[in-house]
Amino acid sequence: MSGPSSPRPKRGLAMTNPTSSIKHVTSALARQTLLDGSLTSPVAGGQPIPLLPWLRVVKIGGRAIMDRGREAILPLVDELRRLLPEYRLLILTGAGVRARHVYSVGLDLGLPVGSLAPLAASEAGQNGTILASLLAPEGVSYVDRPTVANQLGIHLMAARAVVSSAFPPYHTHEFPDSRLPIHRGDTGAFLVADALGAAGLVIVEDVDGIYTEDPQGPKAGEARLIAETTASELAKAPGPLPVDRALLDIMPRARHVKSVQVINGLVPGRLTAALRGQHVGTVLHAH
Ligand SMILES: Nc1ncnc2c1ncn2[C@@H]1O[C@H](COP(=O)(O)OP(=O)(O)OP(=O)(O)O)[C@@H](O)[C@H]1O
Ligand SMILES: [Mg+2]
Repeated sequence: MSGPSSPRPKRGLAMTNPTSSIKHVTSALARQTLLDGSLTSPVAGGQPIPLLPWLRVVKIGGRAIMDRGREAILPLVDELRRLLPEYRLLILTGAGVRARHVYSVGLDLGLPVGSLAPLAASEAGQNGTILASLLAPEGVSYVDRPTVANQLGIHLMAARAVVSSAFPPYHTHEFPDSRLPIHRGDTGAFLVADALGAAGLVIVEDVDGIYTEDPQGPKAGEARLIAETTASELAKAPGPLPVDRALLDIMPRARHVKSVQVINGLVPGRLTAALRGQHVGTVLHAH
C-alpha cells in the first residue's frame, strides 16, 4: 500500500513497472486469513438480508406426487392455481422413479456419484417441465437453476409462480460420502429457500408427514405421525425418512428458514392450509 511516506513513482516508470499502476482496494478482510473464525466473524458474522422475503417455496415429491400421474397431479395443480393470487411461489419438483432407474443402471456400470447426480437432476427437471406445462395458462414456466439463482425476482414480477428442479446443482461436485447423491430435492429446495430468505418451505409428500416408521413399509403398524420435531432429534431416528438426511444436517446452520412443514399433497386443501400457517403435517424445526 502506498502511504504518505512512500516514494512517488518516477514519471515514465509506470510503462515498465506494472505494479506502480495497481490500485489498492481497502477491504475489512483483505489482510487476514479466511480460516480463522475469530478474525472473520466481526465482518462475516452478521445476519444476511432476505432477498425475496415474500417468496414461498413448495417442493413437490417426484415419487410421492409426480409419478402417480393425473390422479395426484391434477388436483394439486388446481390447488396451486387457486393459490396464485395469494402467494408468489417457487415450485420445485423432485426426481422420482426415473432417477431410481438411472441410479441403478449407473451404479451397475460403476459410474461415480458426480455422474449420477446430474442425471437424477435432469429427471427432476422433467417433472418440473410437466408441472409448468399444466400451469402455463397462468403464465407459469419452467426455468433452470441458474435463472432461479439470478433472475427469480423479475420472473416473479411477470408471473405469480415459476417451476424448477428441486435438485441442487452440486452435479460433478457432489460429495463422495455415498455412491448415491446425498444432496437431493429436499436439500436443494431448502438451500434455495434459505439463500433467498424465503418466508417458508413446504415439502409435499404422499403421507401425512414424518412418522416414527415408514407408514407404507413393513413396520407400518408401529408408525406414528410426528407432529413436531427438530432436525437434530429426527437425525437420531435410525429408520427411513421421507426427506433427505442431508437436510437435517443443513437446517440448524440456516440463516433464514427456521422450520419446514411436510404435508400430504394427496389430501385437497393441505397445501393451502400449510401456506396459511396452519399445522397440517409435520413441522420440522431447525432447532
Ligand atoms: N419415517 C417416515 N415417515 C413418513 N414416510 C416415510 C418414512 N420413511 C419412509 N417413508 C416413505 O417415503 C415415501 C416418500 O418417498 P420419497 O421421499 O423418496 O418420495 P419423494 O419425496 O416423492 O421423492 P423425490 O425425492 O424423488 O422427490 C412415503 O410415501 C413413505 O412411504
Ligand atoms: Mg420425500
